[in-house]
Amino acid sequence: MKKTIIFSAAALVLAACATQPKFDGPAYLNPNAPVEERVEDALSRMTLEEKVGMTTAQSKFSSRGVPRLGIPEVWHTDGPHGIRPEVLWDEWDQAGWTNDSCTAFPALINLAATWDKEMSMLYGTSIGEEARYRKKDILLGPGVNICRTPYNGRNFEYMGEDPFLAGQMVVPYVQGVQKNGVAACVKHYAVNNQEFQRTQSNSVVDDRTLHEIYLPAFKAAVQEGDAWAIMGSYNLYNGQYNCHNKKLLCDILKGDWGFDGVVVSDWGGCRDSEEAILNGLDIEMGTWTNGLTGAASDSYRNYHMADPYLEGLRSGKYTTKELDDKVRRILRTIFRTSMRPEPNYGRFVCPEHYQAARDISAAGVVLLKNDNNTLPLNVPEGGKILLVGENAVKKMVVGGGSSNLKTAYEVNPLEGIQNAYGDKAEIVWVRGYVGDITRSYNRVDTGQDLSDDRTPEVLIAEAVEAAKDADYVIFVGGLNKSHHQDCEGADRIQLDLPYAQEDVIRALAEVTDNLVVVNISGSPVSMPWADDANAIVQGWYGGTETGNALADVLTGKVNPSGRLPFTIPYKYEDGPIKTERQYPGIKEEGSPYWQTHYDEGIYVGYRWYDTKEIPVQFPFGHGLSYTTFEYGDAKAAKASMTADGKMTVTVNVKNTGEREGAEIVQLYIADPVAGIDRPAKELKGFEKICLKPGESKTVSFEIDSADLSYYSIEENGWKAEAGEFQALIGPSSEDIRATASFELK
Ligand code: GLC
Repeated sequence: MKKTIIFSAAALVLAACATQPKFDGPAYLNPNAPVEERVEDALSRMTLEEKVGMTTAQSKFSSRGVPRLGIPEVWHTDGPHGIRPEVLWDEWDQAGWTNDSCTAFPALINLAATWDKEMSMLYGTSIGEEARYRKKDILLGPGVNICRTPYNGRNFEYMGEDPFLAGQMVVPYVQGVQKNGVAACVKHYAVNNQEFQRTQSNSVVDDRTLHEIYLPAFKAAVQEGDAWAIMGSYNLYNGQYNCHNKKLLCDILKGDWGFDGVVVSDWGGCRDSEEAILNGLDIEMGTWTNGLTGAASDSYRNYHMADPYLEGLRSGKYTTKELDDKVRRILRTIFRTSMRPEPNYGRFVCPEHYQAARDISAAGVVLLKNDNNTLPLNVPEGGKILLVGENAVKKMVVGGGSSNLKTAYEVNPLEGIQNAYGDKAEIVWVRGYVGDITRSYNRVDTGQDLSDDRTPEVLIAEAVEAAKDADYVIFVGGLNKSHHQDCEGADRIQLDLPYAQEDVIRALAEVTDNLVVVNISGSPVSMPWADDANAIVQGWYGGTETGNALADVLTGKVNPSGRLPFTIPYKYEDGPIKTERQYPGIKEEGSPYWQTHYDEGIYVGYRWYDTKEIPVQFPFGHGLSYTTFEYGDAKAAKASMTADGKMTVTVNVKNTGEREGAEIVQLYIADPVAGIDRPAKELKGFEKICLKPGESKTVSFEIDSADLSYYSIEENGWKAEAGEFQALIGPSSEDIRATASFELK
């Protein structure tokens, strides 16, 4: 019997081969040929002009293919949170399409706050489906620049202050996007940590800080996530523009890390032909050329790697060595995306994507304070909930810069609460304060008219009056996506809440004992009013479903498990940035650039506050739950490990509360006998565990010598010193519940 089956199986295989038609076209068109074979075949067929053509833009968001060979042009699209609405061929403004209203997913800082790699995979897969459906080949995201200063206008687009968290969270996102045959373009490479003078600012960073803080997330995206594209940033590093920075692009990215994808310039980030040609830029986008007076038929011929490159090749100034490398990388990207073997068509604005946006956002909401279990809301039948604040109603997917989106709808917090309660409770909203009444960005119109010329006194009096008979008062404030808030192109100018929101919070605290403050922002705000609030929630720009996600947490439908991806200090001055030289930088007489000196070195975020023992409002990794967790002792599997070995540290965690919940168990490493200056502790592991009441689970961390290492400038490499190390485990960087020591031999 068995023999017969084998025989018939073999017959089937032979028959299948026989019927599979032998591909008789050119190898580069054979979807089943190995990518490198297709690359070499296509390259061999291309003319010099066609090769040069591929290295620059042909429109605002596309770069050339090879029409003669049937190789499609490459379509790039913003952004990290959703697929940007279509623009005109050579404009930033809307093309006015009626079929490009996307799903707005949560801001990446919201994703980081989930500390949940499965959520990151769900995110990348979903946004990748939307990009594929819209026929885009390169998604210009995710961004992973470290939150060095809370003022950076683009912190909301990134993944917080810790390189390990950002690195762990970016990998699944990249993998999810690329499963769809869309390249993730990880940005902005590198040490691009402020918007102030972003195109004229030179980041001066020592090598140890560069490798320990600012490169790890990019390295993880490339080496673990297999990112197919990287975007060079606008700024300079050590005096060279990053879109053609030899050390960052050639030595580290393509050399040490073995990156085989494409380097895309930020839009207008390419500043010099020779450097772009020789230092590893592959596709030049968005260069500011004056097409009106240039001789070329169209301004794209004026690009640094367009006619100037062609002339340099013809004059013998350049060989085709660099050109062929660029074109190989671009062709490789095309054969991974638009000409990939297995066609798929993605999905767009489907219920699954809306649900994904809602689940991801809710999983990242952070319960910072919850005195007397104010939350979850427990509204009596026919009770009254008062919402106060502009951010309860303000559309937030519009604005913020290039991550600006057009969506079919956006559920704001007020609507989220209304959806949750229906007519079971009286839901009232009052303005509380007037912040930003901008209606549209890049001609994406919010459709909202938030204009209100009442005085702060009138608005506060209205809010206080309405609060008196409310069962709960929920103040929904924070920042927004306008200039000098959470927005590209400029930095914030204060750490406190803007628009005198503090006055509203304090006035409300006088008339209610159920004051919930929801801070919606993409970066830390100081909270001098924290004692006035009975509960504080860090909400985020949650995208299309932001209001439902927030309501899911406030009502208890979702037990919050979000954890802070950045420190919330008491005040800005407590931070590591003490001088203008550090931030925003200084501009010497006659120099074209601002010099931003990263003098604080590796002491960024909790590495600073924790090591210097500076108290903070809420620490990195902090977040409460509606249940409680107990930690057992941490156990090291053995007393010591060798440099090429591993150490397993385990800890038992139990849900000691009344309801199911998730805990983010965090592992920090301390090097108490270090021969050099090191932070008090550094995040080197985390795991999200879901436990039913009374249930417990043993969490196991695998530690290797890389987790114990620091970057040695002398040895120009990573180094772990022999001696004692400590594994510190707990629910935040400040709340260590279990410690295990072991020896590195
Ligand atoms: C912008 C941003 C970048 C974006 C690009 C295209 O200036 O810096 O993140 O992808 O240009 O809009």
